[in-house]
Amino acid sequence: MPTPPLAGRVRALAPSATLALTALARELKERGEPVVSFGAGEPDVNTPEPVIEAACRALREGKTKYTPSGGIRPLREAVAEYLHTRFGLAYAPEDVHISVGAKHALFNAFLAVLEPEEEVVLFSPYWVSYPEMVRLAGGKPVVVPTSPERGFLPEREAFTAALTPRTRAVLLNTPNNPTGAVYPETVLRQLGEVLAGRDVWVIADEIYAELVYEGAHVPFPRAVPELADRTLLIGGFSKSFAMTGWRLGFAAGPRELVRALDNLASQSVSCPTSFVQYAGVAALREALGEVERLRQLFASRRAKMLAALAEVPGVRFAPPGGAFYVFLDVSPLLEAGGFSDADALARALLEEEKVVVVPGTSFGAPEFVRLSYAMGEEEMLEGIARLAAFARRRVMSA
Ligand SMILES: Cc1ncc(COP(=O)(O)O)c(C=O)c1O
Repeated sequence: MPTPPLAGRVRALAPSATLALTALARELKERGEPVVSFGAGEPDVNTPEPVIEAACRALREGKTKYTPSGGIRPLREAVAEYLHTRFGLAYAPEDVHISVGAKHALFNAFLAVLEPEEEVVLFSPYWVSYPEMVRLAGGKPVVVPTSPERGFLPEREAFTAALTPRTRAVLLNTPNNPTGAVYPETVLRQLGEVLAGRDVWVIADEIYAELVYEGAHVPFPRAVPELADRTLLIGGFSKSFAMTGWRLGFAAGPRELVRALDNLASQSVSCPTSFVQYAGVAALREALGEVERLRQLFASRRAKMLAALAEVPGVRFAPPGGAFYVFLDVSPLLEAGGFSDADALARALLEEEKVVVVPGTSFGAPEFVRLSYAMGEEEMLEGIARLAAFARRRVMSA
């Protein structure tokens, strides 16, 4: 007997390209290959000590039971206070949902708002998981391109043209993965104007809010308070507190939607891990200084990365304002090397130079590659030197 079929929803599902690449780089390193990986979507430093300490304390104190599905009260209070002091946002603890990472909050948000075939407008280049999450929830991603010439910022006309009677949500990501773009308040206001009077949710993924080097992060509900009653703000601990493996995130927004997220969690994961939530309280109450230190560390690496990349022929880039990625336009190099797309280039770069980059194909940008600078400086500069050697060989012989 053949095995029974799997559901269409998973047969059509692409695995996360970035997680797959990170795994490949790790495997090669473990085999002793001198690999330099620019694939990481996570800080390379350890979680701040007070956070680790709080988790250990919670374990010893027996905080090892189920918690409320939407998260423990002290953490919902701490998130509400943090959003107020850092960004001037007014949420009550009841408006906050604690999730198993921001990814989980996003996933449940689509489940909570989408009827079958309803549309979610999102901007490309986009974070790899968005279209798959929308499809898994039965919705349809509608991709609106942004251009490097306009700083990868959403444009009003293209956005307006993408809205249809079936549009149920708009997904914004600032600071942006993979482009690093930080959406200015004027851009957010323009989007808000277009959305006024429409029956559309705004899902604002602001997980990189703390990692900004040029300009300032403006939360969507701050820029467009008149749409706060239909905006779900997504944030997390992974990037700014170096807590990717802990799986902790949050969503804040209208109470009805937040309760729906609580209910979805109650019937799926039950709750985020109990002692991790206590660690989250310590992160927000005791480790904000570490966030600033991390930001400064990334700022200094970013400067060195951009200086080194300026010497690489066949690539173009604009300094990214936030997150920890450089999104590199490799179209001249694709042409010089006769590569069909960034996937082919990334394969050759790995084979010839043992350098891992993430092809833009899975971000909806096949002529780009993403380089993370969440890595040691020496290794980073070594990797760029190898990339430069690879590029020189192509450009010289073209
Ligand atoms: C834009 C964006 N949103 C959400 C996430 C998920 O973060 P978390 O680890 O909190 O699930 C990531 C992680 O790479 C991301 O880049």
